Amino acid sequence: MPQIRLDKLLSDMGIASRKESRAVVKSGRVTVDGSLEKHPERKVDPTRETVALDGEALQYRAHHYYMMNKPLGIVTATEDREQKTVLDLMPSLCGRGIFPVGRLDKDTDGLLILTDDGEFAHRVISPKSCVEKLYYAKVEGEPDAEDTAAFACGLVLADGTRCLPALLEPLGDQRCLVRVVEGKYHQVRRMLAARGKPVRELRRLAIGELCLEKDLAPGAFRELTEADLCKLFCAVPMEKWSKTTLDSYEN
Ligand code: URA
Repeated sequence: MPQIRLDKLLSDMGIASRKESRAVVKSGRVTVDGSLEKHPERKVDPTRETVALDGEALQYRAHHYYMMNKPLGIVTATEDREQKTVLDLMPSLCGRGIFPVGRLDKDTDGLLILTDDGEFAHRVISPKSCVEKLYYAKVEGEPDAEDTAAFACGLVLADGTRCLPALLEPLGDQRCLVRVVEGKYHQVRRMLAARGKPVRELRRLAIGELCLEKDLAPGAFRELTEADLCKLFCAVPMEKWSKTTLDSYEN
C-alpha cells in the first residue's frame, strides 16, 4: 500500500479534521511503531507500521462502509438542490467521498449501504455478483402462487423490460417478501405492478445476509465491521424471515 501522511491517516480515519490532526500529531499523542512522532508530514504504511494514538493502536481502513436505516421521504443521492438527501443525515462524514450503494426510492425505507469504495459498490450492485436484496412489501391485492411462479420465470415489465428470475413469497394479509439480484429503476414496484399488485409500502430488509438492524432508528447509521461486510456476499435462506422475525420490522 502507498505511504500516507500521518495527518491524512488520522483524518481519513475520522479521528479529526486534517487541520486538527496536524495539531494532534504535534502535541505528541501519536507514536509510530512505539516511537513518538511529532511531524504530521511523516509518511507511514499503515499495513506495516503500527500507528497509535494516546497509546492505542489504530486499525487503519482504506475505505469506509456504513449501514443506514433510510427513512421515508429522503432522497437517495449525494446532493439535491431542493430535497433532503441521505448524505444530509451524515453531516459528520461530509467531504469524505461517501455515496449510497444503489438506490432506494424516496418512498422506500430500510437498509441502505453507503461507502467511499467504488469497486465494492459495483460488486454489491452488479447482478453478476448475485447479491440478493430482500424487500418486504405491502400491496393491493393478495400475492399468490401464480405471482411466485411468474417472478421465478423472469417477469416482463409493462415497458417490455425482462427481469432476471426473482423470488416472491406471499405472506398473507396483502404482504409479501421479494428477493432480487438486480436494481433496475423502481424494480420491485414495477414487478408487483406487472402482476396487478401495486405496492403500498416497501422496505428493504437485507442485502445478502446483512440485515437491517432493528434498533437502528430511521435516519441513524453505523460503520460496518469486517464481519458485516462478509455477510453482504452470502445468501440468506428465506426461512430465516419467519413471521415472528418480520413482525418486529413492522412500524
Ligand atoms: N425497488 C423499488 O421499486 N424501489 C426501491 O426503492 C427499491 C427496489
